[in-house]
Amino acid sequence: MTRPRLAVVGYASIDEIVGGGCGGPIVRTIGGGAVYAALSALQLGVDVALHVGFGSDFPDAWIAELERLGVDLSASERRDHPTRRTRLAYLAGEQRSADADRSEAWIEATHALQPPLPARSFDGILLCPMPLPLVRRAIAAAGSARLIADTSEFFAAEGPSALRAFDGVDLFAPSLAEVHRLTGEDCEGRAIARLAAAVPTLVVKKGRRGLSRHDGLDEHHHAIEPVDAVDPTGAGDAAVGAIAGALLLGFEPRRQLEAAAAAGRRAVGAIGPAAFGWTCSSNRNF
Ligand SMILES: Nc1ncnc2c1ncn2[C@@H]1O[C@H](COP(=O)(O)OP(=O)(O)OP(=O)(O)O)[C@@H](O)[C@H]1O
Ligand SMILES: [Mg+2]
Repeated sequence: MTRPRLAVVGYASIDEIVGGGCGGPIVRTIGGGAVYAALSALQLGVDVALHVGFGSDFPDAWIAELERLGVDLSASERRDHPTRRTRLAYLAGEQRSADADRSEAWIEATHALQPPLPARSFDGILLCPMPLPLVRRAIAAAGSARLIADTSEFFAAEGPSALRAFDGVDLFAPSLAEVHRLTGEDCEGRAIARLAAAVPTLVVKKGRRGLSRHDGLDEHHHAIEPVDAVDPTGAGDAAVGAIAGALLLGFEPRRQLEAAAAAGRRAVGAIGPAAFGWTCSSNRNF
């Protein structure tokens, strides 16, 4: 059987992790939703073509490592703009993202490093968190590929009017916080029901409470045993990468959720994407 082909579209970043909040050394590692999603989908057994704009200072060694792991980078491009950086501070296992993700530099990089859109030769296209106009353009260009999309609280910030950008997506997989934001509804049950009515299939990521999947009248809930996070970054992205892979591999709904939960659990168990085969050491200064 030929392996299904998945295009993963989004951003690759440099994540700067400030450990313990006590002025310890900054650890730099590869990050970005598209990177976690790509590595997670690859491990599940699909072919993955990453569609990102690499910043001018994105390390060559990281590009080589992605290729070594089997990620097809032929659609990704090097751009003349610094990489998007996100600084994360961890205190007792809690993630606090400093306001890096709203800084002017972050927004500029988001614009300058917009991912290239995939050609029409893929079985599936995964749209990682990205600006809404880009989501619309990617959906319009997708052809017959299965479309899976995620978002983030930042890109979903405009609330219910943002939802129209996802028209045409086959499976939408936001976090619970994003479900509330996109529906403007405080009650969890009503918020999920409203969003489930707006997309063919909805998967809700609920952090330590696991995931649920809503497909018409068909509902599946997957509870988890949470583990203590070493690095909580990328759980949602790895989960969505696994869902996209599982969908293309024909897994039934319950197994899709199991694959997503397993990927999320693995992501939080190690620094950066180390649980997905990433071996580049990350303390160099750049
Ligand atoms: N501490 C944990 N232990 C085990 N599994 C976890 C843990 N945290 C997350 N997961 C798994 O990963 C999945 C995705 O994580 P989460 O719901 O936090 O996504 P998200 O809100 O999109 O996160 P992100 O901040 O990465 O975007 C969860 O539904 C859960 O199954
Ligand atoms: Mg997320």
